[in-house]
Amino acid sequence: MDEIRFGFVGAGGNARGHMERLSAVEGAEIVAICDINEGAASAAASEYGADAYTDHREMIDGVEMDALYVSIPPFAHTDAEILAAEAGLHLFVEKPVVLDMDKGFEILEAIEEAGVLSSVGYQLRLLDTSKRLRNYLADRQVAMISSHRWGGLPGAPWWRRMEQSGGQLHEQTTHQLDLMRYCTGDEIVEVYARYDRLTMDDIEDITIPDSQGVLMTFASGTIATLTTSPMMTQGGGKSDINYLLRDQIIGWSPREITVQGVDAPQLAGEPEETPNIDETFVRAIREGDQSIIPCSYEDGLRTCDVTLAANRSAESGQPVTPEMVKA
Ligand SMILES: NC(=O)c1ccc[n+]([C@@H]2O[C@H](COP(=O)([O-])OP(=O)(O)OC[C@H]3O[C@@H](n4cnc5c(N)ncnc54)[C@H](O)[C@@H]3O)[C@@H](O)[C@H]2O)c1
Repeated sequence: MDEIRFGFVGAGGNARGHMERLSAVEGAEIVAICDINEGAASAAASEYGADAYTDHREMIDGVEMDALYVSIPPFAHTDAEILAAEAGLHLFVEKPVVLDMDKGFEILEAIEEAGVLSSVGYQLRLLDTSKRLRNYLADRQVAMISSHRWGGLPGAPWWRRMEQSGGQLHEQTTHQLDLMRYCTGDEIVEVYARYDRLTMDDIEDITIPDSQGVLMTFASGTIATLTTSPMMTQGGGKSDINYLLRDQIIGWSPREITVQGVDAPQLAGEPEETPNIDETFVRAIREGDQSIIPCSYEDGLRTCDVTLAANRSAESGQPVTPEMVKA
């Protein structure tokens, strides 16, 4: 395979980042860009010498491509991934992959039937600190995990609508939850969540909670808590993930791992450079190797399943088992 031809569904802020990185990879060419916002599609298309579309069906049907990026808000995932998989296109889908698990199962089935490669944008898995921690935890019992992500309110109007984004936990703090799954190599089997909106009723059009707390149990018994809020609207914020093992508290961050208690030399030292997720996707396509990709669609859907289970738990007041764990 010489030139690998890419299409895009969605030309918003995040897609633009992928386009920029992808266009710098040798042998990768962006040939078509679709956005329901015609101006966004044509501005990106003219920058990258691609064709602009406002209808993804027309684009997938009419353009010779090898792979498709889908970077749209959670509620907007309909049939682009399914049509693309049926057309034999490899797929890069942004997190959170869906807002509805039935849609996720439909897409997963199409990907598996077509045998195309899939990648989900959980790029924090590629960090050296994440990989080191995953190796370290592989044969150790984690007792507890505690994490929070307290930050600001993104500007996109869909983000503050629960029925469009699924809320901050589902849309954004999915990264922290995904890292807990990735670093422990363990599955979350039960979720109990409480949500409220305590300070942000003055924000126009807001329907998401501003305070989300989740208590989770992993298959190995690990107990985890995660809280998240977008109420820092004047700037600032804090985010962390801490793992408690017997005689050790391990703090993960993108650039370093801190250890309190018993020393862990395997976790110390300068992290290696992080591979670029788009370059990794291109290499996986070139080599036909799904194993290079840090998160497959199936794996990304599992993380999505947990945050959707948390949303159901907050609604019902009951603990919920994620769908893919039940199956
Ligand atoms: N991996 C990461 O770290 C990361 C970072 C930022 C955003 N994201 C994800 O990327 C996705 C997009 O986020 P964003 O920040 O670019 O949002 P955005 O609002 O900037 O852009 C979304 C774009 O999608 C378009 N769109 C909506 N429905 C569409 C449809 N059916 N077909 C084609 N285009 C459609 C909109 O017109 C808009 O241009 C979200 O799922 C978000 O969570 C991931």
